Amino acid sequence: MNAFVKESVNVNDYAQRIAEALPRGILLNTQGEKFNAMVIGWGHLGVLWSVPTFVVYVRRSRYTKAQLDSTGCFTVSVPLGGVNPVIQRVCGSQSGRDIDKAKEAGLTLVPAEAVAGSAVLEYPLTLECRVLYSQEQDLARLPEDIRARMYPQDVDGSFPLANRDPHTAYVGQIVSSYIIREKA
Ligand SMILES: Cc1cc2nc3c(=O)[nH]c(=O)nc-3n(C[C@H](O)[C@H](O)[C@H](O)COP(=O)(O)O)c2cc1C
Repeated sequence: MNAFVKESVNVNDYAQRIAEALPRGILLNTQGEKFNAMVIGWGHLGVLWSVPTFVVYVRRSRYTKAQLDSTGCFTVSVPLGGVNPVIQRVCGSQSGRDIDKAKEAGLTLVPAEAVAGSAVLEYPLTLECRVLYSQEQDLARLPEDIRARMYPQDVDGSFPLANRDPHTAYVGQIVSSYIIREKA
């Protein structure tokens, strides 16, 4: 049986790694009826209400949104090597409504410690977050060029990339941060 150790880290020491990994895709994991992971390319590490936070943006039709709204917590998994193409394809283009992504993407799940859910061995830098606040974006308040490019109203919300759905911003308080290592 595999054993894992979680090496605590100061997330600020990894700010640059996270910023560089984001545009290529990191994982936002939720645990509602089942574990689910979705690729995200937007997000930010920061401080809000005097606590360390990570903010994620989730479109209305994502299965992840239903899970987040019911559980109020999530984990974020950041690769420390390159992007894994299978994880990217399965978690970035298919919905947890239709498949078991942990199985299809070959994820090794490791129980989280401070929230309900799991971390992912393959993307070992982990932030565990408790949702403090969420708010759907008002598309009318966006600059026209961004609204047209990111929210095309003729594209159904089930499409994995840009579509008509607004994003909801979820502000997560980072309650634990670590790197998962596999024991020999
Ligand atoms: C590189 C990349 C970045 C993405 N970033 C986001 C994002 O920040 N927010 C979002 O709602 N969807 C994003 N997506 C799309 C979701 O990953 C995709 O629709 C996924 O299938 C949703 O899964 P779910 O229905 O299981 O939640 C991204 C996809 C890719 C490939």
